[in-house]
Amino acid sequence: MKIAIIGANGQLGTDLVEMFSGQHEVIGLTHADIEITNIENVKNILNSLKPDLVLNTAAYNKVPEAENFPEEAYRLNAIGALNIAKICQDEKIRFLHYSTDYVFDGKKQKPYTEKDLPNPLNVYGNTKLSGEYFALNNCEQSFVVRVSGIYGKVPSRSKGNNFITSILKAAKEKPEVKVVNDEVLTPTPTSWIAKNTLELIQTEAYGLYHMSCEGEVSWYEFAKTIWEELNIRTPLHAVSVKDFPQVVKRPFYSVLENQNLNSLGINKMPDWKEVLLEFLRENKFS
Ligand SMILES: NC(=O)c1ccc[n+]([C@@H]2O[C@H](COP(=O)([O-])OP(=O)(O)OC[C@H]3O[C@@H](n4cnc5c(N)ncnc54)[C@H](OP(=O)(O)O)[C@@H]3O)[C@@H](O)[C@H]2O)c1
Repeated sequence: MKIAIIGANGQLGTDLVEMFSGQHEVIGLTHADIEITNIENVKNILNSLKPDLVLNTAAYNKVPEAENFPEEAYRLNAIGALNIAKICQDEKIRFLHYSTDYVFDGKKQKPYTEKDLPNPLNVYGNTKLSGEYFALNNCEQSFVVRVSGIYGKVPSRSKGNNFITSILKAAKEKPEVKVVNDEVLTPTPTSWIAKNTLELIQTEAYGLYHMSCEGEVSWYEFAKTIWEELNIRTPLHAVSVKDFPQVVKRPFYSVLENQNLNSLGINKMPDWKEVLLEFLRENKFS
């Protein structure tokens, strides 16, 4: 299959390009190659490349900043997805778009399935939810894949970090590190998202998917695992979200259950801790 990957040098895009290159003809598109907020540009690029499938990882990811720049976030997360969906529909290209656990408000306190109603608390989540609807309702052959707490060997380009790189920086620079213990999620490495996406695109079961690791953990417990594995001496303290000034509302609980992948019999997502330890060893953080 000929596959165009948008955001090819981003955190998730880098692993997708690597993983897919072994099995498919991959065209990695960076921001310099395509501007997804401009439909004419999307049309020209996709018409000239003629891929069978487009994967879109491009997003406005800076959650707090999105509160101050909602139009910018909407243009990228919603209109960007709409533009790609429309061109894919016209050109009969299959489309896979990535979204987020932040479409949920966290009140359920149990893992969210694809059947649960979203209710985003912040601008980022709202704009990503619009992007989901635009993708699913404007392109018949589209998948939307929600991921959560992602980390990869290349940190998020828009944020300049991921949880692991920012917490390790804090451990080096600060006398002590405080991490919230009352926000629960499932950290997921981008390499495993890439592996499972590879399986999903072999099917024609278009629609909405959750794709996160198994299990759940607070940000504090996530940090504690890193501390123990890397023998970090800087004191680590569990605190509450209430101890920090609230810039943006976030769900207290955003664990995803991969129900639709399970129904297809292709859920190969591993336990969060097992793959976190593997990631820390492979990437030589110690
Ligand atoms: N990071 C998380 O913890 C998290 C959690 C849940 C869901 N997600 C979702 O996971 C997906 C991947 O995130 P990520 O961390 O891999 O993002 P990332 O590292 O910031 O990568 C995004 C890529 O998109 C490119 N891009 C930005 N604006 C563009 C535009 N207008 N047109 C074309 N390309 C553009 C960026 O290029 P430039 O940098 O050169 O502009 C970059 O290569 C996103 O859908 C995100 O919403 C992320």
